[in-house]
Amino acid sequence: MKSAIKDIIKQHKIVPVIALEGMDQILPLADALIEGRLPLIEITFRTKIAAKAIAVLTKQRPELLVGAGTVLTTDELKSAVDSGASFGVAPGFNPAIVEEALRLNFPFIPGILTPTELEAAMELGIEVFKFFPAEAAGGINYLTSLAAPYSHKKIEFVPTGGVNPKNLIDYLAIKAVMAVGGTWIAKKDSIEAGQWEVIKKNCREAVKLVGKLR
Ligand code: 3PG
Repeated sequence: MKSAIKDIIKQHKIVPVIALEGMDQILPLADALIEGRLPLIEITFRTKIAAKAIAVLTKQRPELLVGAGTVLTTDELKSAVDSGASFGVAPGFNPAIVEEALRLNFPFIPGILTPTELEAAMELGIEVFKFFPAEAAGGINYLTSLAAPYSHKKIEFVPTGGVNPKNLIDYLAIKAVMAVGGTWIAKKDSIEAGQWEVIKKNCREAVKLVGKLR
């Protein structure tokens, strides 16, 4: 994974994950994240406007690091790259997508849950993994056990799924965790209701929590 992208994610330690329904919301949402001092976003391909939203943001808000999430096909991967996304994320490990991302030199974070999936993705050269669905799978205890045999390897995790302000510090305390992801920063309802102040407050609270780790 390109180290410049990794460094930005590592610096902020939180990746807000978004499923965007309307284009009208994209710029105010981006501004809320920027003003809340969490200038990065993962726009998921769960909605049809993902690629368009990524293209708008990369052009109009260059200070924001924009990634593409829920990349489930090589077509979506191509669309993410073409729209200017800086990185891609998937909930699972699909070797065809990972191989294509590596071929394109596009930073990509596949999801894994077991040692077998982890090793298969490592074999292809992946070093950063989404650990999903983090809480449902067993949370901090599970991830600590999963990471233990690979502590001598250069691999890092981004736990996502059930991460929230109450548990994020415990996840980030695990040595191999470089960041966490989640939808709690900008919930669907808050975006749809245009509650930008709520989103800014969530950002600031999260940034403050991360600040305590430093
Ligand atoms: C994702 O796509 O990364 C997850 O759905 C986020 O999970 P969360 O809604 O529990 O944060």
